[in-house]
Amino acid sequence: MFDTIAPRYEVVNRLITFGLDARWRTRTVRALGLPQGSVVVDVATGTGELSSVARRAGFEVLGFDLSFGILEATTSTLPTAQCDAAWLPIASGIADGVVCGFALRNFTERAGCLAEMARVLRPGGRLAVLEVGAPERAVTRVGFDVWFNKVVPLVGGAVSDAEAYRYLPRSVAYLPTPDALREELCTAGFSSVNRHLLSGGLSQLIVATKRGRP
Ligand SMILES: C[S@@+](CC[C@H](N)C(=O)[O-])C[C@H]1O[C@@H](n2cnc3c(N)ncnc32)[C@H](O)[C@@H]1O
Repeated sequence: MFDTIAPRYEVVNRLITFGLDARWRTRTVRALGLPQGSVVVDVATGTGELSSVARRAGFEVLGFDLSFGILEATTSTLPTAQCDAAWLPIASGIADGVVCGFALRNFTERAGCLAEMARVLRPGGRLAVLEVGAPERAVTRVGFDVWFNKVVPLVGGAVSDAEAYRYLPRSVAYLPTPDALREELCTAGFSSVNRHLLSGGLSQLIVATKRGRP
C-alpha cells in the first residue's frame, strides 16, 4: 500500500493536515531533548520528513522503512535502509534517540517493534512517537470525525489512491489506548512515559526514556 501512495504521500499529508504535520514533526524532534550531534533513528521513516527535521536540528540520522517504494520517493539524502521495524539491522545501544511518525498503527508486530526501538537505544536514550489523535472537546471531535472519516478518503482518492485513504481512518482502530500503550512501552524497556496532545488532540506525541543506567 505504501509503495502505491509513495509518489503523492507528502502532498496528501499537507492537504489532510492543513500543513500542521510540519509543526507536529518539529515538536516530536524537539521532545527528544538531545544535544546536537546525537544519533537518531527514524523508524518507519517513509519519505524521510521526520528525518529531515531531525537533521536540521543537528542530529546524525538513520532511517528505516519496510516499503522500497516510499524509500525511493524520499526527498532527503540521508542514509536509509529497507527493513522491518521488528528487526532493525543495527547494533544494540548505538542510538541516542528514536523517532517514529504515524506508523505505530501499521505495525503488525507492535510489541516486537517497540522492543527493537528499546534495544537500539542506549540506556537513558529518548523515544518520541507521533501518532494520529482524537480531539477531546465534543465540537472539535465531531468536525474531526467528519473530516477524517469522510473528507480525507475523498481527498486521498482524488490525489492518490482511494483504497489507501479509506484504510487511513480504519487503521486508527489498531492504535492501543493510552494506558495500554504505556504498559507496552514499559514492558519493552521504557520508563517516564508521557503523552502530549497536539493541536487540541488532532495528533498525539508519546515520549519515553530507555530504562537503565546511562
Ligand atoms: C503513514 S507512513 C509514515 C511515514 C513517516 N514516518 C512520516 O512521518 O511521514 C507509515 C510508514 O510505516 C512503514 N511501515 C509499516 N510497517 C512497517 C514495518 N513493519 N517496518 C518498517 N516500516 C513499516 C510504511 O512503509 C510507511 O512508510
